[in-house]
Amino acid sequence: MIIGILKEQSDGEKRVALAPTSVHAACELGFKVQIERNAGVHAGFSNEDYIDCGASIVNTAEELVNSSEIVIKIRAPHDGRITGTDEQNLLKSGQTLISLIAPGQNSDLLSTLANKGVTVLAMDAVPRISRAQKLDTLSSMANVAGYRAVVEAANHFGRFFTGQVTAAGKVPPAKVLVIGAGVAGLAAIGAASAMGAQVRAFDTRPEVKEQVESMGAEFLMLEFSEEGSGEGGYAKTMSEEFIAAEMTLFAEQAREVDIIITTALIPGKPAPKLILADTARLMKTGSVIVDLAAEQGGNCELTRPNEIVTDEGLTIIGLTDLPSRMAAQSSTLFGNNVVHLLSDLSPNKDGKLNIDMDDEVIRGMTVVNGHDVTWPPPAPRLSAVPAVPTPESSPPVTPVLAKKSSAFGTLVSLVIVVAAILGVGAVAPASFMGHFTVFVLAIFVGWQVIWNVTPALHTPLMSVTNAISGIIVIGALVQMGSSSATVIALSMVALFVASINIFGGFWVTQRMLRMFRKEQ
Ligand code: NAI
Repeated sequence: MIIGILKEQSDGEKRVALAPTSVHAACELGFKVQIERNAGVHAGFSNEDYIDCGASIVNTAEELVNSSEIVIKIRAPHDGRITGTDEQNLLKSGQTLISLIAPGQNSDLLSTLANKGVTVLAMDAVPRISRAQKLDTLSSMANVAGYRAVVEAANHFGRFFTGQVTAAGKVPPAKVLVIGAGVAGLAAIGAASAMGAQVRAFDTRPEVKEQVESMGAEFLMLEFSEEGSGEGGYAKTMSEEFIAAEMTLFAEQAREVDIIITTALIPGKPAPKLILADTARLMKTGSVIVDLAAEQGGNCELTRPNEIVTDEGLTIIGLTDLPSRMAAQSSTLFGNNVVHLLSDLSPNKDGKLNIDMDDEVIRGMTVVNGHDVTWPPPAPRLSAVPAVPTPESSPPVTPVLAKKSSAFGTLVSLVIVVAAILGVGAVAPASFMGHFTVFVLAIFVGWQVIWNVTPALHTPLMSVTNAISGIIVIGALVQMGSSSATVIALSMVALFVASINIFGGFWVTQRMLRMFRKEQ
């Protein structure tokens, strides 16, 4: 079958649906590829690049669509009112269109294409399940947008991201808050951390905490018994009380952080307003807000879609074309997603499409099949993210940072040990008690001196020297009861020296660890 790649007509759209490398991959699947002249120039791909990868060049959109069985583009086809070329009208019965469609918002377009008999696979309707990740253009584009959001923030922020100690003085690291740790949010966290900023993040879905922390950021938690995970790996709408508690947290954070990147969204819903104008104005002069949800109304009250505005020394970036601003990268990723789809649709690599409506992924993406509108699809059977059990208790609404507490555990253990000794002492003979006390004490001291070694420094050497010092401490304590002054003196020396090894070791390792931590 012949694939035709249309040139994008929307103002400012620099991407192209297939990069030259993807053309090569599509040809290997048995398809013939033709591309409208200069379709890739804004993404940095020349006509010659495409010819080298096996494509042929066609001069006009009309000629291209007329001679193609599968038409692939980035944006939904235009009706010609804005750009002059009526792409919808060019499409004809029996053809297959693969592009972004926004089926939830474009029911008229779906009806028009169904009336014409054009089968439509929407790249933005891929179910969010693990098997479909390789096709998921929304994730690919959100990944680019998250990265670019950090680049845009850095461009408007007048300071370094990383902290520095220079001859001219000390520079503190920039503090970045990312709201919404989905695909775009995680990409922003990764990029900002890599640039040296101190990053913290918040999301309504507690299961993303580990992902956030694994990327070097701190996860902010609300002690609130509401769980934000919804169906299909997406979030659900939160209660008004939760949003109010969340906004209190953001107001506190706004005073501290230099940059806020907001990505909070529930698909198909307007973006929740999380940063009110007053909250935004709490930020220091020179701070930056990048609102990725601008297209859906924005998470910040001051955001204006497609604009970069300033307000009392604060810059608010509401750009909605971030993937297009990295057109070469976005086109390559979009093209890879399309090739994965073509590979699923043509398992025998014979260049023919087999649209299998029993396949959950293909069913989800097929929004028009022949003359039938097949949107919306049935709910996905699988969720990308396992549900997390809801906590039983519902403590008061106080925003706090997540913290681990080990002191309480140690105290409880100590009480249990003492109770065990007293309990056994009540029934056992006196000779047994002496050995038993030493045994229990040895276990406790050994546990304390070895277990408390920071995992990052859990070398056999440190554990073994601590174990030996622990044995010396026990031996010295046992010998303290001797009647000989020499033995007592030697015991005290042994106890002192072994303690230097244990406590000195902890002190030195803490200093070493602090050298690798960023300053608060
Ligand atoms: P996603 O669904 O993966 O992530 C959204 C995250 O927001 C989820 O983790 C969700 O739990 C969280 N969330 C929802 N409500 C929240 C709340 N009240 N408080 C805190 N977190 C909340 O979406 P993805 O793919 O990461 O996209 C994020 C945003 O970026 C969307 O608005 C998308 O349209 C936008 N986007 C913008 C682009 C641009 O050029 N400006 C380009 C691509 C995506």
